[in-house]
Amino acid sequence: MKIKYADLIEQTFDFPQEEFRLNGEELEFHGIPLMEVVRKYGTPLKFTYLPKISENIRKAKGWFRDAMEKTDYKGSYNYCYCTKSSHFSHVVEEALKNDISIETSSAYDLDIVEHLYNAGKLDKDRYVVCNGYKTDDYLERIAHLINAGYKLLPVIDNYQEVDVLNALIDNPFEIGIRIASEEEPKFEFYTSRLGIGYRNIAPFYRDVIQNHPKIKLKMLHFFINTGINDNAYYWNEFNKCLTVYGRLKEVCESLDSLNIGGGFPIKNSLAFDYDYAYMVEEIIAQTKAFSRDAGIDDPHIYTEFGSFTVGESGGTLFKVIYQKRQNDKER
Ligand SMILES: Cc1ncc(COP(=O)(O)O)c(C=O)c1O
Repeated sequence: MKIKYADLIEQTFDFPQEEFRLNGEELEFHGIPLMEVVRKYGTPLKFTYLPKISENIRKAKGWFRDAMEKTDYKGSYNYCYCTKSSHFSHVVEEALKNDISIETSSAYDLDIVEHLYNAGKLDKDRYVVCNGYKTDDYLERIAHLINAGYKLLPVIDNYQEVDVLNALIDNPFEIGIRIASEEEPKFEFYTSRLGIGYRNIAPFYRDVIQNHPKIKLKMLHFFINTGINDNAYYWNEFNKCLTVYGRLKEVCESLDSLNIGGGFPIKNSLAFDYDYAYMVEEIIAQTKAFSRDAGIDDPHIYTEFGSFTVGESGGTLFKVIYQKRQNDKER
């Protein structure tokens, strides 16, 4: 009779998996004997397996490279690591080994960015994308680093941010604008609280940015918080975003980048099944078809994968302290 937990795993999932295998009676994670770690450090224990961070970044870059080659896509691909996923220096520094950029969400993140610049760990020629609601100290730090000559790209989340940045920044500077996506119909709010509504973006650009003596629009930012999924809702929002991009591009020469945010799912179950390469190919093919039909250059693509960068690299080890019998057979 199969009544052990290991039997259930055997019957329910394909095992061993890419990262987990059994060596005798003991579980290994990427070849690391977990019981040895437990014997050495005890439990509970949280750990990060750094090579997985670089591996996932390389995978994502590979999917975008292949999709761009296949479609003869002319724009570049830019991987940004979003620091809010993990601020630990060993995680951020591992991610930065892969020729990537950074996305920030708070004033605190910019202290980290400044430290990375000073330590020579962050390439000064890459854009740092500054997202999120901008508190006064966040705006001040953005302005401080731009005034010091760094390439920060504040993504406007709120109309008022433009005036404050304009007052604080000495020379001409670039911005992005975040589109407030419409939420899935089952969600209790219609529109994301982050960003500027679809219909308001072109008028905002025309009234405030188009003839501004100091500000140029470089990026349109779009993020669906339910993630990148192959469903009607995602593709509908994605196409609305492309339409806004095309409309802006008609009047804005400097716009050349499309940021599709984060949202890659991660393996949080042994039964996980998601075709990343297909989704990337679809995103790139749809963007390519759109820019060809609109007669515009293919936008440079930015992503901000957070969970995908770090989520599969970490684990927590617990000790089973007791087993109960809750029915006739199973413990
Ligand atoms: C603007 C932005 N970019 C990136 C992310 C990261 O998303 P994920 O962890 O799903 O990749 C988030 C998450 O909230 C976000 O708001």
